Amino acid sequence: MADDLDSKTSKPGDTAERVSRYYGTLGQGDEEYARNVTAFYNLITDFCERGWGKSIHFASMKGGESFEEAIARHEYYLGENIGMKPGMKVLDVGCGVGGPQRSLAKKFGASIVGLNINQYQLGKCSVYNQEAGLEHLCSLLHGDFLNIPAEDESFDSAYHIEAISHAPDKAAAFAEVFRVLRPGGIFVGYDCCMTPLYDAGNPEQRELKEEMIYNNALPQIPSFTELTDSLQAVGFELLDTHDRALDSDPETPWYGALEGNSLSMRGFPRTPLGRKVISAVLRVLEGIRVAPRGSHEVQRVLNMAADSFLTAGRLGIFTPMYYHKVRKPG
Ligand SMILES: C[S@@+](CC[C@H](N)C(=O)[O-])C[C@H]1O[C@@H](n2cnc3c(N)ncnc32)[C@H](O)[C@@H]1O
Repeated sequence: MADDLDSKTSKPGDTAERVSRYYGTLGQGDEEYARNVTAFYNLITDFCERGWGKSIHFASMKGGESFEEAIARHEYYLGENIGMKPGMKVLDVGCGVGGPQRSLAKKFGASIVGLNINQYQLGKCSVYNQEAGLEHLCSLLHGDFLNIPAEDESFDSAYHIEAISHAPDKAAAFAEVFRVLRPGGIFVGYDCCMTPLYDAGNPEQRELKEEMIYNNALPQIPSFTELTDSLQAVGFELLDTHDRALDSDPETPWYGALEGNSLSMRGFPRTPLGRKVISAVLRVLEGIRVAPRGSHEVQRVLNMAADSFLTAGRLGIFTPMYYHKVRKPG
C-alpha cells in the first residue's frame, strides 16, 4: 500500500519530501487515488492536529457551544443512531487518528475497529488509544475501503465521517461496507456533497467545485441523489438522509470554524487571519532554520483546502455532512 514511510522512523519523510511527494500525486487521475490521499494525509495530519484536534471533521454548530462540544455531539449522533452499546463490533471506515473512535468507544462502550489506508495516522492512533487506556475497545486495521481486509458479515454496524468522500468509486466502497456488515446491520455516515443550490451551469461554481476536489484529495463530489443512488445500488435500504449542516444555528454555520466564529486561542489558527499569520511566521522560521523546510508550503496546502470549503459553504452549495442512515436487509 502507498505509504512511503521511512523504515527507521515510521514517519512519511521530512516535511519537504512530503510536500514534493504530495505535489507529485496531483492531477494523476482516479487510478492514483490511494497515493494522492495517502500523501495528502501524510502532509497535513500533524498540522491538522495542532489547529483542529484529533477529530478531523466538521460539525454542525450551536450557539453557546464550544468547537470541541460540537465535534463530540456530531460524533455521538452517529453512535445514537446506530444504537451503539457494549458488546457490539463496529467498523470506523477511514478512522483518521481516532478522535471519533475513542470518543464513541468511551461514550457507548462498543468495540470499534478503525480502518485506515494511512499508516502514519494509524501509528499515531495506536499511541493515542493506548494513552487513553482504550485498547480493549479500540483496535486498528490497515487497508483500503475499496477492498476491506475483513470477513463477510463480520461487523454489527459501521460508520464513516468524511472518509468515503475520498473514494473514486462510491458504490464500490459502499459495496465493501455492505459485504462486511451482518444482515440487519446499520451503516451511518457524513459525506461531502454538492447541495441542490449548486448550479452546474454557473462557471464560477463549477470552478469552485473543481478547486475543492483538487485541494482536498476528493476524486468527486456527488449530489445528494447521486450519493443515495450509490447506497441503494449496492443493496442498502435507505432509512434516513438529511443535511446536518442545516441543524446548525443560523448564526453559527459549520464553516464558521474556518471563519473564526470561536475566537479562542485554539480557534485562531483556523481563521483566515490566523492562517495567514502562521504562513508568514513559518516562512521566517524556515528561513532561519527553526521550522522544517516545507512547513509554510504545508500551511499553503491547508489554506487552499480551507478557503475553497469556506467559499462554497458561504454560498450554501456544498456540505461536508450529508447524513445517511442505511440498513443491510435481513
Ligand atoms: C477527513 S479524514 C476523517 C478521519 C476521521 N473519520 C475523523 O473524522 O477524524 C478522512 C480519512 O479517510 C481515510 N481514507 C481516505 N481514503 C481511504 C481509503 N481508500 N481507505 C481507507 N481509508 C481512507 C484517510 O486516511 C483519513 O484518515
